[in-house]
Amino acid sequence: MSSAVLKIGPYALPNNLVLAPMAGVTDRPFRQLCRRLGAGLAVSEMVSSNSALWGSRQTLRRMDHAGEPEPVSIQIAGADPAMMAEAARFNVERGAQIIDINMGCPARKVCNVMAGSALLRDEALVGRILDAVVAAVDVPVTLKIRTGWDPQHRNAVSVARIAEQAGVQALAVHGRTRACGYRGEAEYKTIRRIKETVAIPVIANGDIGSPQKAREVLDCTGADAVMIGRAAQGRPWIFREMQHYLSTGKLLPEPEVEEIRKIMKHHLQNLYDFYGEYTGVRVARKHIAWYSKGHRDGAAFRQQVNRVETSAEQLRMVDAFFDSVAETRGLAA
Ligand SMILES: Cc1cc2nc3c(=O)[nH]c(=O)nc-3n(C[C@H](O)[C@H](O)[C@H](O)COP(=O)(O)O)c2cc1C
Repeated sequence: MSSAVLKIGPYALPNNLVLAPMAGVTDRPFRQLCRRLGAGLAVSEMVSSNSALWGSRQTLRRMDHAGEPEPVSIQIAGADPAMMAEAARFNVERGAQIIDINMGCPARKVCNVMAGSALLRDEALVGRILDAVVAAVDVPVTLKIRTGWDPQHRNAVSVARIAEQAGVQALAVHGRTRACGYRGEAEYKTIRRIKETVAIPVIANGDIGSPQKAREVLDCTGADAVMIGRAAQGRPWIFREMQHYLSTGKLLPEPEVEEIRKIMKHHLQNLYDFYGEYTGVRVARKHIAWYSKGHRDGAAFRQQVNRVETSAEQLRMVDAFFDSVAETRGLAA
């Protein structure tokens, strides 16, 4: 069965696979990599609606979209309608082609100031924020939510209606309540109810870690697309695998060691170029750890590579690690 494309406002995406926004992970190099390997859309890390932070180096970096394929989707977070509207305008002026609103992130930093998924508690405020942002910009506005505040307050269907009425053009739903954190299995039934309730595209999210799971979730929720977060960490080719499976029903073979090495080294080089040597080496550490997971002697390698301070040394160690992975695979073949 082929997978239908996802349309958000004027943008017909190449497929229905979306990279989830992840603070500290979905920076420009990672978004570009995932798009190249098959993601139809890659949402940025969130940018605060607090304008006092817009001059910071971190926020300026988050607003840098040079060379990114269209459509550029930027996530904003905050709880004040006027500030959110201003943040949306500011980001559109800097190249955002879709504004995504975060009402799905439980991060303490966000929830303490009554933003992210904490907003789900106050539906009237949700409505005011969405109205203000939709009115502020002429690009599509999308929304990311959880299924509710806690298991006793699963109000996502009601929030979805508010979003549709406000003119939101797509809704991503993480199948957990705010109180559930990342515990338990994502529940897809609420996502199905949302899909049955609203006409705007619904993107299902939560625990989708394989091509088969993507198919299963699309079928059981009726959603228009799936959003992948943690499963793309260290496995950006998962989008290619999903795309292939959704359109042919067949699984692609695992990438060869040499391809993984090539993808990873290109990714690391992009991180060094984007962040500069000092920060680049540090940001690269977590990606190296994810890529090396599941490979023999990965734990020992991670311990060693985390101590390295230069990009040249990091790349040299990565090469040595993959030489030994290739050698072991060669012996096993
Ligand atoms: C490290 C990390 C950072 C995240 N940052 C954000 C964020 O900035 N905005 C947001 O809406 N969700 C954020 N999330 C939630 C993800 O977008 C996604 O909803 C969640 O991880 C569930 O999907 P998954 O099971 O595919 O990982 C983050 C998740 C992780 C693991």
